[in-house]
Amino acid sequence: MDKLDQYAVYGNPIKQSKSPQIHLAFAEQTGQKLHYRAHKVELGRFAEVAGQFFAHGGKGLNVTVPFKLDAFEFADQLSGRARRAGAVNTLAIQDDGSIYGDNTDGVGLVRDIHDNLGWELQGRRILVLGAGGAARGILGPLLKKGVSQILIANRTVDKAQKLAQQFEKLGSIAGCSYADLASGQFDLIINGTSASMSGDLPPLPSHILSNDGCAYDMMYSANPTPFMRWAAGETAWAVSDGLGMLVEQAAESFCIWRGVRPDTKPVIEMMRQSLS
Ligand code: ATR
Repeated sequence: MDKLDQYAVYGNPIKQSKSPQIHLAFAEQTGQKLHYRAHKVELGRFAEVAGQFFAHGGKGLNVTVPFKLDAFEFADQLSGRARRAGAVNTLAIQDDGSIYGDNTDGVGLVRDIHDNLGWELQGRRILVLGAGGAARGILGPLLKKGVSQILIANRTVDKAQKLAQQFEKLGSIAGCSYADLASGQFDLIINGTSASMSGDLPPLPSHILSNDGCAYDMMYSANPTPFMRWAAGETAWAVSDGLGMLVEQAAESFCIWRGVRPDTKPVIEMMRQSLS
């Protein structure tokens, strides 16, 4: 019997990862025979362990916190969006044995917002909360989708300003502090801080969301996150967590590896049920 093609997600911690469930659902749906597992990698050992995986015939890796930068450095070739994001979440071995690195996080967010939720992005004013790894991955794909402006607000303001500078060529983007948000309104606020789950929300002024404004949390959980509850209190037109983004970024990785695009809707539904 032929050995199944091997895939894995590398991270630390990794127990919480939903990637095996999602990719195995895609494989079943599309009739692809493959093996996918979650693996905890010791800090500082990413390149060594990933090198061994590919040397032993592994076909592709997903990479999660805290190794997206290590994966960026590990890849022999990078997609434009991985280069712009400065981070890689998908590695694939090529026919010549070289390793291709891509970043599917941003396109996953855009697909969830635009295709699944049906929220307009073109011409919209976007506020991104946070200037860490999560925020960095989504800026390029949002600007390429034709949003009218992005403001990045962050506790450490110079991180937001430096991040914005790196994307200036793609469109109107700037960085600021939370205090600078006292005036101004946005059509969409995206929470990319790691504060959401602890309930430590950044200080946001009232009326910062426009009348038909939407709020998207890149985190997900069985119950609405603190950020989603804040937005509902601001009478947001629509509110979502990031479960759809998780499935969409995985679908993009699956497509890179297998050349087949899975139908994400039933998998998002399945994951939603497994959360509750
Ligand atoms: P990730 O890869 O998940 O984005 P990260 O790179 O450590 O993680 O970035 C975390 C982000 O959440 C940062 O923007 C951080 O703000 P600082 O750059 O000022 O540290 C933000 N963050 C974390 N805790 C926060 C809190 N309690 N209030 C506001 N922002 C917070």
